[in-house]
Amino acid sequence: MLVNLSTILAPAVGSDYSVGCFNVFGWEDAQAVVNAAAEAGAPVILGASADFRKLMPIEVIAPMLRAAAEYAPIPVCVHLDHTYNMAEVFRAVDAGFTSVMYDGSQLPLEENIAGTRRVAQYAHAAGCSVEAEIGSVPYAEGRAHIRSELTELKDAVRLAAESGLDAMAVSIGNVHRLKEPAAVIDFKRLEAIEAAVSVPLVIHGTSGIFESDIARLARTRRVAKFNIATVLRQAFGRGLRETLAKHPERFDRVEIMGDVMPVMSSEASRMIRLLGWNRSRPSAGINLNRSAAAQ
Ligand code: G3H
Ligand code: ZN
Repeated sequence: MLVNLSTILAPAVGSDYSVGCFNVFGWEDAQAVVNAAAEAGAPVILGASADFRKLMPIEVIAPMLRAAAEYAPIPVCVHLDHTYNMAEVFRAVDAGFTSVMYDGSQLPLEENIAGTRRVAQYAHAAGCSVEAEIGSVPYAEGRAHIRSELTELKDAVRLAAESGLDAMAVSIGNVHRLKEPAAVIDFKRLEAIEAAVSVPLVIHGTSGIFESDIARLARTRRVAKFNIATVLRQAFGRGLRETLAKHPERFDRVEIMGDVMPVMSSEASRMIRLLGWNRSRPSAGINLNRSAAAQ
């Protein structure tokens, strides 16, 4: 079931779980994630990163991920990850993404607010939700130009109130692309932000956060979405190496991916559980069927 970000996050706000947004790099990755979510009965978000968009045009990614969502028995949102270029965000809305992240984190606050507001007007008219970022979540590798800047409370309050965003990413010690947990989360800063805004909050750089902190963050009132990429990419690499080591003669993609996908699914399942979703909860499909559809 295809839904937008507002629809999928609404039940997670004020509850003890959050929704995983997994960056995928193709159909098999998307299926591996959707299978894990369906098995748990959990809502899930499929993210398209800038790296994936180098491999495949936005206009191809959107219908592919929408198809994965439409055939899924659970709510699935199709999300454009960090995008700094507004024209690209508009293209993604036109192509059918049900959520876009306009990342104005590298801009002065006024420009971030104005840009997000413009994107929100355009996206909302198409039933698409908008995520924005305040402060700047740094990268451990691959994006040296992205600043490291913790979220200032007063800036978070302004972006949340003045831009029309649907979800807000915050910088509270989280770091992108750490290969193992090392981030030191500033829970006091998060508490202050949570007390001052009423929008769903997003945690990026989940792979670098200790399990106990992920579970604690997921239980907080407003944190509703976690962006997850590196651990899933690591699962892909691990699965690929394992199957080729076991079957060095293999060359068939379907056979190889048939072994890799369950490894990715099992990593996605681990994250879904860590984010507080459990089998005793009624199926997400049943809960969210009653709320507004994406578009
Ligand atoms: O936007 C993408 C995420 O924040 C992924 O971060 O690769 O550290 O899990 P990660
Ligand atoms: Zn991110």
